[in-house]
Amino acid sequence: PIIYFVTPTYPRREQIPELTRLAYTLLHVPRLHWLVANDQEKCDTFLDTLLSGFGIPFTHMASPMPSKFRKSKPAPRGVANRRAALLWLQQHNLTNGVLYFGDDDNTYDLRLFSEIRQTQRVSMFPVGLIADYAVSGPVVRDGKVVAFLDSWVAGRRWPVDMAGFAVNLAYMSQYPNVNMPYKPGYEEDLFLRSIGLRIDQIEPRGNNCTDILVWHTQTKSKKSPVVNVESKYLDGRSNLGPL
Ligand code: UGA
Ligand code: MN
Repeated sequence: PIIYFVTPTYPRREQIPELTRLAYTLLHVPRLHWLVANDQEKCDTFLDTLLSGFGIPFTHMASPMPSKFRKSKPAPRGVANRRAALLWLQQHNLTNGVLYFGDDDNTYDLRLFSEIRQTQRVSMFPVGLIADYAVSGPVVRDGKVVAFLDSWVAGRRWPVDMAGFAVNLAYMSQYPNVNMPYKPGYEEDLFLRSIGLRIDQIEPRGNNCTDILVWHTQTKSKKSPVVNVESKYLDGRSNLGPL
């Protein structure tokens, strides 16, 4: 089966380095299709050229966050993107494959890919560097998932991180109402509820969920300052500060 690796991404100064680092991980993975969904109105040529240059089979889509959510705090980050990818998978009737939601800033061990490729329905595994406990993942007894460890359970039936599960497309296609609602914090839970998952069906991966093969790393970000580059460049005194 092919791994459909869905990456939400958005324009900011860290976007190109994040995607570059991720691409050089994905280049090691055979039989992978990269769905890159950019939080923007249109597909831009620059990103398209960058993605083509890596040599990974990919689809580039534009999936802007609806403007009414832009100002909400927290905003539903990456949701419009993942919904666009889900729609693409449905429209192409793809059933022979495994879906994985891989954010552009996480860190992926290559062993993750062989672990998730065998997913029959839904597989789960721990994610490192999540909130206070520094790990989020299933608790396994005798080879079965029996509970979850997560710093923020918040009434969720499936208190897992987006990077902590993979879904078989043939299984998912039995649930035409599959969806990810715009509800910050509850995206994973409500997505997994929409595919009728039962706890006894979950396939624990990574040595019965004892290996961490993906980390929720975050890049220190900085907003681009509004500077008049031209005048700085032309004015030889610009590094002397205001006169
Ligand atoms: C955490 C979870 O790991 C995400 O899976 C979840 O989507 C997110 O929280 C959330 O629910 O808000 P976190 O590191 O806090 O992730 O969020 P980001 O990495 O900033 O964003 C998640 C993904 O959405 C990234 O791939 C990012 O590129 C993308 N994103 C972010 C957008 O497409 N648009 C935005 O405005 C912000
Ligand atoms: Mn992140």
